[in-house]
Amino acid sequence: MADKPKVLVTRRWPEAVEAKLKELYDVTLNESDVPMTADEMRQALMDYDAFCPTVSDKVDASVLDVEGARTKIIASYGVGYSHIDTDAAKKAGFIVTNTPEVLSNCTADLAITLMLAAARRVGEGERELRAGKWTGWRPTHMIGTRVSGGTFGVLGFGRIGREAAKKAHFGFGMKVIYFDAFPVKPELAAETGAESRDSIEAVLAEADVVTLHMPGGKDNYHLINEARLKLMKPTAILVNTARGEVVDGNALAAALKAGTIGGAGLDVFEGEPKIIPALLECENAVLLPHLGSATLSTREDMGWRVMENLEAYFKGEAPRDRVA
Ligand code: DGY
Repeated sequence: MADKPKVLVTRRWPEAVEAKLKELYDVTLNESDVPMTADEMRQALMDYDAFCPTVSDKVDASVLDVEGARTKIIASYGVGYSHIDTDAAKKAGFIVTNTPEVLSNCTADLAITLMLAAARRVGEGERELRAGKWTGWRPTHMIGTRVSGGTFGVLGFGRIGREAAKKAHFGFGMKVIYFDAFPVKPELAAETGAESRDSIEAVLAEADVVTLHMPGGKDNYHLINEARLKLMKPTAILVNTARGEVVDGNALAAALKAGTIGGAGLDVFEGEPKIIPALLECENAVLLPHLGSATLSTREDMGWRVMENLEAYFKGEAPRDRVA
């Protein structure tokens, strides 16, 4: 029997997925579960048939610019792929795949969690209680914002944005408005009666909650900046489960402190896991450590999806989730 393909996995995956992967391939896991260095990743491209990074591995041109790589497929674990320089990958002849769809629902759940947590001051309340500072119920204590029946503004009306819209519309009776740089099929907007707006600015000005669902990377860098934050209602909540670099964190912290907007729920940060101190100081921000897809079944589904892509590639077929 021919040798099994050699596969390098950069971070630990759920047990069931790792076990299946080991049955099918000659797998090397990064047991330490800390990000590999650029040098280690470059070496892996020379030594393995397939390379499986995650969204926390920076696979940039300096990694991909290798001569005589053994790797042909970079099968990433995660839907976002702005951590991979796809232009450099294409140039060097690598196929790149991601894991769309399987995490849409779970990530949308977290967007709704952040909306409610920020609007109802969940983090602040819990901090007060745990610090022993709660003095008891009173009519004016920690008043939040009611989101039910309000307007839910979605920037980026792809799979995750539409899932979040369904939860907001059917769960909380919210009117949905959206902007997407690409055309959206009318039947998809009709699922939630969502109304399109012709600009980001229009959504920011009208929505009570603005949730971000566009890809990261240079095209959307600091899309939400000081000028655009100023367009939002002073009570509005900004939710980001997309990518940290989409928001100018310093401008957001200033807006939160000045009361230009009401609050924010953030799961992703530019340069994460580092967080800019100004954001940590904002009581009206709920901050989570990139948990959008963090349920066992979703993380397993992401692994199965990587395996589907690998299997297709090694059978000589086109992987379904090719992005470069
Ligand atoms: C992704 O897949 O892009 C998320 O950010 C992590 O699940």
